[in-house]
Amino acid sequence: TIPDPPAPLAAGQDGLKLSVDPAHPFITPGPDDIRGPCPALNTLANHGYLPRTGVARPDQIVTAVMEALNLGNDFAKFLVYQAFLMNGNPLTNLMSIGTKTSLTGQDPPTPALVGGLSQHGTFEGDTSMSRVDAFFGDPAAFNQTRFNNFLAFSTQYGFNGTYDINATAEYRHHLLQDSIQTNPELDFTAPRILSAYSEAVFPLVYFVDGRLNNRQLTQAAASSFFANQRFPADFYRQPAPVTFDIIEPMVGTIFNKYPFTPGMNYGTNNYVLMPDTPALTDFCGIYTDIVLRVIPAQYPSPSSELRQALNTNLGFLFDAVKVHHACTQVFPYERD
Ligand code: HEM
Ligand code: MG
Repeated sequence: TIPDPPAPLAAGQDGLKLSVDPAHPFITPGPDDIRGPCPALNTLANHGYLPRTGVARPDQIVTAVMEALNLGNDFAKFLVYQAFLMNGNPLTNLMSIGTKTSLTGQDPPTPALVGGLSQHGTFEGDTSMSRVDAFFGDPAAFNQTRFNNFLAFSTQYGFNGTYDINATAEYRHHLLQDSIQTNPELDFTAPRILSAYSEAVFPLVYFVDGRLNNRQLTQAAASSFFANQRFPADFYRQPAPVTFDIIEPMVGTIFNKYPFTPGMNYGTNNYVLMPDTPALTDFCGIYTDIVLRVIPAQYPSPSSELRQALNTNLGFLFDAVKVHHACTQVFPYERD
């Protein structure tokens, strides 16, 4: 049986808190510990908020991001169950935060991938801020050259050299233009468009010390999370749970500065628009596309045990969606 997702942090325990408490020391990962494309989850594993192996249950990840960074419960569940359905093992309830591994147990039948968060073309995708596009190399590995651009855009566009909303808008726009010019296999369609724009905003919210909480990320703090995968010393999480109602307007701001249409490159500098796929502004369209297209591509006709596990996780995903969005629930499989 699959454990229910954790409840929200209790009132009175959902405020400012020291993230690097004595129970969560930084320890450099060992040779067999798995890390991947997400600087936040890598950091949480390095501090023991997640199993240091880098293999975790979805409910553990929800708890970790609430405790350490103060993600709102519904927002945490939306990210985690979406990722888990694309990259985890529904039969064992385990997911790798990086590369594919036998530690997640025996795979369901192909075409299921169970590839972990590093699996290109699922949650992981092109135009990342500190990782190269898969066409050019390992899209999960931190890339210093690319991260230097993040810092340079902060210097050029951010207030006092911080990564703020202006620097975010400029860097996000630059990354898409750069991949259009250079990556012949660029794919910039749902669901990647949503993760790309959300992740661009995350650092100036969750990586800023909650006592200051000014949406301006210093280059020192950015380097601590991205390059060292470590909390800055004495880091406090956000002062209240942060969910869709804070993140989405910020995503809207950077999108409105440089709007784009989803599309794919057919060769370099040949970006073909795909206006019939869900736009960034169409949240329910992206939810529906994940459930009816992306997940059934890996699980076209699941056997009964697998189908029940998928249905359970699809239910958790919709429970998260419905708190802030009036989407209609969709069902790819026979209902239990
Ligand atoms: C990137 C998963 C939470 C910050 C990613 C990527 C994945 C991922 C798969 C790679 C996407 C790509 O760049 O191609 C998750 C999951 C989460 C989670 C499953 C569950 C809660 C967070 C949180 C933060 C965060 C709480 C807070 C700061 C980022 C950032 C990137 C990223 C900044 C972009 C890295 C880059 O573009 O170089 N995440 N993430 N993530 N994540 Fe997370
Ligand atoms: Mg990527």
